[in-house]
Amino acid sequence: MVKQTKPDLGVRIGKLDLKNPVMVASGTFGYAEEFKDFIDLKKLGAIVTKTITIKPRTGNLPPRTCETPAGMLNSIGLENPGIDKFIKEKLPFLKKLGVPVIVSISSVDDPGEFSILAGQLDKIREVSALELNISCPNLHKDKLIAQDAEDTFALVSAVRKATQKCLITKLSPNVTSLAEIALAAERAGSDAVALINTLGGMSIDVEKRTPKIGSWSGGLSGPAIRPVAVKMIWETYNKIKIPIIGMGGIIDTQSALEFFIAGATAISTGTVNFVNPRATIEIIRGLKDYMADNNMRDLSGLIGSLKAC
Ligand SMILES: Cc1cc2nc3c(=O)[nH]c(=O)nc-3n(C[C@H](O)[C@H](O)[C@H](O)COP(=O)(O)O)c2cc1C
Repeated sequence: MVKQTKPDLGVRIGKLDLKNPVMVASGTFGYAEEFKDFIDLKKLGAIVTKTITIKPRTGNLPPRTCETPAGMLNSIGLENPGIDKFIKEKLPFLKKLGVPVIVSISSVDDPGEFSILAGQLDKIREVSALELNISCPNLHKDKLIAQDAEDTFALVSAVRKATQKCLITKLSPNVTSLAEIALAAERAGSDAVALINTLGGMSIDVEKRTPKIGSWSGGLSGPAIRPVAVKMIWETYNKIKIPIIGMGGIIDTQSALEFFIAGATAISTGTVNFVNPRATIEIIRGLKDYMADNNMRDLSGLIGSLKAC
């Protein structure tokens, strides 16, 4: 009988080695401590924090979320305690886990704040990477940085100068060509791109004739957006060389596999964490089984393996 080798789930994102490619999407997992009673956090490939800004933010008007067919709308508006409180109160728990910590950072009004945050976090050994959230749709802006290739290039170039850490740029699906923006991020020195952030959406209470969320429109997430995400990952995979972290409606192993086959090197779970907090652990186990069943020693043969039908 041929002895099967144990599948190796390890992947590399820039200079960051992950023991497995399953992470959690920013804003859907708090600062991880909130999930400690549900799963063994040490099993995760990496943890991405809720987006942090320099100053604390209280976020947008409630209600901030509502259910939609096969998904949800949210307009949280980057509520967070600010960088100083994050470092003092949230980071100590994350530091102890021994899982790569990816800190998501943003600014609402001043792109220069990205570099200040990056410089501050650059000094903290246990911060493994930074994710630049230039794609939050809930900040009442006419145009996001991630909606313009030149703005994306300028922002990522500036942050690149401020930090040696692995840089991930989080991109928006609310554009004509996400792949073009991803190329700009790559040229500016981003080590990876994360896609997709939420799709702009709106839901109306027809009895009251009011929007269902306080800031009128919000970001759509969950299985409803999965086919959009898969297409964008496939198009981007064919355009850039740096790794893609894929997300958008992943709920189980089957849906995660679609993202790897389309070209993602790693994946994140988002909305599903609110429904099934064990989804990540189930996907890690499911990936191992799939690799064993298909005689795969590692993920290189799976990533971007899409064929014509
Ligand atoms: C309630 C909620 C809050 C979110 N907050 C953030 C955030 O702070 N920063 C960010 O980059 N993305 C944020 N996102 C977007 C997710 O990280 C992810 O890109 C998106 O939801 C698509 O994945 P999903 O369909 O698996 O949820 C948030 C999403 C939800 C549902």
